[in-house]
Amino acid sequence: MKLDSSISAVITGGASGLGAATAKQLASYGVKVALFDLNAEKGEALAKELGGVFCEVNVTDDASVDAGFAKSRAAIGQERILINCAGTGNAIKTASRDKNTGEVSHFPLDKFNMIIQINLVGTFRCIAKSAAGMMTLDPIDGERGAIVNTASVAAEDGQIGQAAYSASKGGVVGMTLPIARDLSREFIRVNTILPGIFNTPLLAAAPEPVKQALGAQVPHPARLGNPEEYASLATEMCRNAYFNGEDVRLDGAIRMAPR
Ligand SMILES: NC(=O)c1ccc[n+]([C@@H]2O[C@H](COP(=O)([O-])OP(=O)(O)OC[C@H]3O[C@@H](n4cnc5c(N)ncnc54)[C@H](O)[C@@H]3O)[C@@H](O)[C@H]2O)c1
Repeated sequence: MKLDSSISAVITGGASGLGAATAKQLASYGVKVALFDLNAEKGEALAKELGGVFCEVNVTDDASVDAGFAKSRAAIGQERILINCAGTGNAIKTASRDKNTGEVSHFPLDKFNMIIQINLVGTFRCIAKSAAGMMTLDPIDGERGAIVNTASVAAEDGQIGQAAYSASKGGVVGMTLPIARDLSREFIRVNTILPGIFNTPLLAAAPEPVKQALGAQVPHPARLGNPEEYASLATEMCRNAYFNGEDVRLDGAIRMAPR
């Protein structure tokens, strides 16, 4: 897909981190961008900077996502690109024993379900609604649209406490090929990135020595990933017409240890 001002893109989680970097990179090619996010303050500011539109969207809420697509399509036209970056995680053991009291407890199911709803169902909701919109467009150079999802290396090597996060991201990896097959007759491509450890606001709370220690675990280059490096791959997945149905690790060759 040729990236220029005739193309519109929706970026979920676009107010921050990997989504924000991708919105900036797409906008640098002239692509019109709509940022879907819960964070209105950061989203409005970035949308203004990029000449795009901000839509306050909760990807777990059907009506909210419908309203977001209605707003973005009215402002910048039907998107040919969807980048799914909205997501979050938690760290709770499946069952554990309190170190002091010995009391046994288990992973609260509502907290497990919340991560699945945001990362997996939220991603699928945006894909399904966006693909339906893309199908109203005429193909350009044999293509109607391109979709990029964000999983995590935790889909393959989840750490202690990551049962919910890994399940959600494993679901994103698992659905990539069948969705690409579902949409192939409509000339819409679907790919997924599995990021390693990236330097985004998600990690901002960690002290500098912790970030350095995490970076040092990466075989090469021995540092955290830059959001621009994620954006570069996401952009190529949109641009390259032969890239389809693929899950790609972007991780400096790291394989996560149990903890
Ligand atoms: N940073 C990393 O190291 C890393 C590694 C692997 C995977 N990921 C994944 O990449 C994606 C982006 O992460 P990031 O590091 O840029 O994090 P981030 O916290 O900087 O950005 C995530 C954005 O998603 C938004 N969001 C969260 N829940 C939402 C909801 N229900 N509806 C709409 N928006 C919502 C947040 O407001 C935030 O702006 C996430 O799916 C994350 O799991 C990140």
